[in-house]
Amino acid sequence: MSFRCINHGFFLLVFSGVMSYLFLEYIDLNASCASQHMPKMRSKFKLTKFQHWLSQLKTVRLPDVSIVNTVWQAVVEKQTYVLSAFHDIRDEPYGSIRIMAFSSTYQWLLQPRLYCHLWYGQSNISFSYVPATVRIQIDPIREAHNRRYGPEILTCYLPDIRVPEFVSISTSNCQIADNLLHIKKPDEQPTHSFTVCVAPLIHNYSNVYQLTEFIESNRLFGAEHFVFYDYESDPLLYPYLRSYLKEGIMQLVQWPSIPVYVADGEAEPPPDLHSYGQVVALADCVYRHMFDSQFVAYIDLDEMIVPRGGHTWRTLIQKANQQNSLYDRIRLYVPFLPNIQSGAFSFRNRFFLISKQQVSKVDHLRHLNFSDAMSLITNYHIKSLSVTKASSKYYPHGVRSKYIMRPMQVLIPGIHFVFKFYSVNRRMFKFEDDTAMLHHYRYCLPETGADVEADDDFTVLAYLDVLLPRIQSRHKFVRSTFNGMH
Ligand SMILES: *[C@@H]1O[C@H](CO)[C@@H](O)[C@H](O)[C@H]1NC(C)=O
Ligand SMILES: *[C@@H]1O[C@H](CO)[C@@H](O)[C@H](O)[C@H]1NC(C)=O
Ligand SMILES: *[C@@H]1O[C@H](CO)[C@@H](O)[C@H](O)[C@H]1NC(C)=O
Repeated sequence: MSFRCINHGFFLLVFSGVMSYLFLEYIDLNASCASQHMPKMRSKFKLTKFQHWLSQLKTVRLPDVSIVNTVWQAVVEKQTYVLSAFHDIRDEPYGSIRIMAFSSTYQWLLQPRLYCHLWYGQSNISFSYVPATVRIQIDPIREAHNRRYGPEILTCYLPDIRVPEFVSISTSNCQIADNLLHIKKPDEQPTHSFTVCVAPLIHNYSNVYQLTEFIESNRLFGAEHFVFYDYESDPLLYPYLRSYLKEGIMQLVQWPSIPVYVADGEAEPPPDLHSYGQVVALADCVYRHMFDSQFVAYIDLDEMIVPRGGHTWRTLIQKANQQNSLYDRIRLYVPFLPNIQSGAFSFRNRFFLISKQQVSKVDHLRHLNFSDAMSLITNYHIKSLSVTKASSKYYPHGVRSKYIMRPMQVLIPGIHFVFKFYSVNRRMFKFEDDTAMLHHYRYCLPETGADVEADDDFTVLAYLDVLLPRIQSRHKFVRSTFNGMH
């Protein structure tokens, strides 16, 4: 990366002897860092010289912004890797920079000191370097699944009102780091009400039927914007991705090659990082859309959050907000209790058993007056309209459940629940089974016994005459318009 060029250029210059006095300046600057204290700007002169040197050097060019944050950069090889950085305006007094990372879980025990180096200025013009570094706060996301590496969020609290363009992370307060992250700043105002984040696409993912059904069904219930992380997708998918990207309802974020050993959960030897880093992807998505989306959900491609009783996600949440909990009722009489509000909304998992459904069992559709419905459902492999056999086992909240969060209220998101809300006065609202469920379509169930006494659940069928034409027209549109375009 170009950032390395700073060092290369630097040494070239040093050895050519042309600007050797700068070397002394540089050493001086380093020397002031010898103690564990933050380096102080003891001499304005030195700093100016240093900046002057940086701006004079032809090789000092920041990396092309379009290519930063698309590789994992090492803070320390085999210890800590960082991917993306976001300006979090919630923190008092000046906000903070949140960095999406993973590190060896051994490091969590050691609690190493890490430092942020902040770079101010406009990305394509000159920039200045602030030698005063800030200590990093490390928040592990406790979803490492006993792997060698686990997800974490690094926080650098900003020292003043200025917002840096870039951040570097190092293990010492004076060493210039070998990594550079562009800082994403919040957009002006919310542009989406519901954003759905999806785990990285893996295994050359090519299931255009599942993708279309997932997007169209969740859209029906309220999703407006989808964020996909592309790790390994098959070109068969591209026409579909293009059609959604062009429509502006999808964002595709590159999920770059992971610098540690990754594999499926059951693989032998087991992977070093759980599930291709999906927890970091979730955190990245939450922070990416924290200030431009009112709500964020993290759902897998074989899942749908299905409201019952004709609700949408929005009316569900309105209903939840009107519902007084026991706590609220107690609070009416004990007014000094804090006002605890819902920061997230949880949906219980119920498995739908694809293997239990035989084609002839699409019989349940016969009473519906929808010409060709059955052939369309078969041709487009629509699971939610053909698989009604559901496990009688309802998983409790927190186990396989998924949730919709107000990202502004969340500090550390987890896959099935919020690890830490931003404020202590926030809680997870738990939907009752008869209000909304997470439908989870699977061939094989993860646990034996979960499939006993499967019974029919026809909830999604009520949406057949809306959902089916949507799915059909998407396939037709993509095939006629985008085919052959890769
Ligand atoms: C920097 O980028 C901005 C926006 O892309 C552009 O308007 C400006 O002219 C650029 N400045 C230089 C010096 O390239
Ligand atoms: C994905 O496709 C590439 C190129 O065809 C192939 O090399 C790779 O092994 C495939 N990966 C998986 C997980 O199937
Ligand atoms: C059902 O379909 C038949 C044949 O397509 C049509 O004649 C009839 O009007 C439809 N009934 C309703 C209630 O839509």
